[in-house]
Order: sequence, then structure tokens, then C-alpha cells
Amino acid sequence: MIVIGGSNSQDLARKVARKLKANYRDLVVRKFPDGELYLRLPPKVKGQRVVIVNTMHPNPNDALIELFLSWHTAKEMGAKKVSIVVPYMGYLRQDKRFHPGESLSNHLVASLLSPDFCLTLDPHLHRIHSLKEIFKTKAKHVTANDVLGDYIKKNMKGAIIVGPDGESFQWADHIAKRIGHHAIVLKKKRFSSRKVKIVVHSDVPLEGKTVVLVDDIISSGHTMLEPIKQFKKMGVKNIYCMCVHGVFAEGALKKIQKLGAKVLSTNSVNNPVAKIDVSSLIAEQLR
Ligand code: R5P
Repeated sequence: MIVIGGSNSQDLARKVARKLKANYRDLVVRKFPDGELYLRLPPKVKGQRVVIVNTMHPNPNDALIELFLSWHTAKEMGAKKVSIVVPYMGYLRQDKRFHPGESLSNHLVASLLSPDFCLTLDPHLHRIHSLKEIFKTKAKHVTANDVLGDYIKKNMKGAIIVGPDGESFQWADHIAKRIGHHAIVLKKKRFSSRKVKIVVHSDVPLEGKTVVLVDDIISSGHTMLEPIKQFKKMGVKNIYCMCVHGVFAEGALKKIQKLGAKVLSTNSVNNPVAKIDVSSLIAEQLR
């Protein structure tokens, strides 16, 4: 087996290769002066199992083209089986035509990613419930919930798990159960991609407590910023924000840290707080 790391995921891909005792190679990617991508795979993939790892942040459009060109090329070069691992799969949140004429990007992007096997981590499945609904070839997702739960159990004693919105229930509930509690799930109203309103309501007193906000993704950060402000007024002692995919668009990480919250994510996306390693989780699926 040969594991190939795309431009966004070389460290993670190297770790996955090490766990699988497989060969590792970087995907050679250059940008032409006009912005198009040049790609080169290792020359000897014929007859081999090829795994290409590339996450879709930053530069989701380039990352998508890297994935699309590389899996096709591996196939054309005679690889026995081509798998792609997309730790953070972008374009999934547009899963409904909210306004007439909008593109349903989730299934259109999935149609470009159809090697023999596609693996992703905690995809944004809200209005659709399985990747099977959008992928034509074999696609599977795994969750980092247990990895996050175990981290909290080990490092944040007595933490109260809070999901910032209804969609986060699937993460918050699972993680809370993993550490032996129930989660508090808040209600969110989204007005735009940068404006949300969240009402903090808790039957459990939060004053003096450690609260961990958990979600699949932190993007603009507003879903975290809103409850943090309210927790501070309520006298919460320690506030943590934890997510699988730390995208942190438009300076979100600094904005959250400025409010005094500590932030942690997995290494599905490279960022300064990606302390929780998911390479074992990925390697297990590829064995
Ligand atoms: C949406 O439902 C997701 O689970 C996240 O809550 C959301 O995408 C986070 O976005 P932002 O950080 O921009 O508020």
C-alpha cells in the first residue's frame, strides 16, 4: 500500500502511513502562473493499493481539484484500488436549495469524488443522513466523538458538555455519554453565515463550573462566540471550545481566545490548536 499526502494533509497522511506500515509519498503539486494546478503522483502505483489523503481546508477549491485529478490519475496508472481520505469534507453544508437557483453543492461535489472508496470524518450530515444518499461509489464516515470524549475525560474533570445548537446534538450527546453525563443542547437561530443568535438555557447551575462547547466544525466562530459571552456573564469558571474540524475562518480562533475560552480541535485540518490526533481512527478503516 502507498499513502500519498495532498498539500493540506501531509503530516496526517505520514502518520497514517506509519500506523499502516505503508510507504508514504507527497503528492507533487505546483501552481501554474494562471492559477491552474499541476499534479504528479509517484510513478509506481500500478497494481498497488493507493490511498490519497487531502483535507478540504484551506483552499477548498484547490483541494477538491487535487483530489479529483489524483484519484483519476492513480486509476489511469493502473492502481489496484484507489481510496481517498478527506478528513474534512467541504461543501456538505449546502444540502438544501434554501433559495431558488442555488446549487446543491453536497451531491455535486460528491459526484467528483468517486474512486473505489472514500473515507471522511464527521461529515456535516444534517438534512441527509448517510453519505450513500450523495455518493455513487463506496463512501464511509467515522466519527471522532470517542477520541474527543476520551480527551475530555482525561483532561477536564467534571466538565459539562454543551452543544451550541440542535445540529450539534449528535456530537454533544455522544461525548457526554462517553464521560457519563447528559449534554445540554442550546437553540440557535441563524440569520446569515456570520450572524447567529443562541439562547443559553440550563437547568443545571453553571456558575463556577467547567463547560465544554462541542461541535463538528468551527468556521466563522459565531456559534461559539455567542454562548461564550453568556457563559461569562453567568460566572462559568472555565470555558473550552472543542470541535472535530477547526476551520477557523476570518480570524475565528483569535476571536474565541480573546474572550478567554480555550480551543481544541482534531488534526483533520491543520491549525495551531489541532492537538487531538485522528490518524489511528483513519488507519483502522484502511487496514
Ligand atoms: C452547523 O450547524 C454546524 O454544526 C456548525 O455549528 C457551524 O457550521 C459553525 O459555523 P460558525 O463557526 O460559522 O458559526
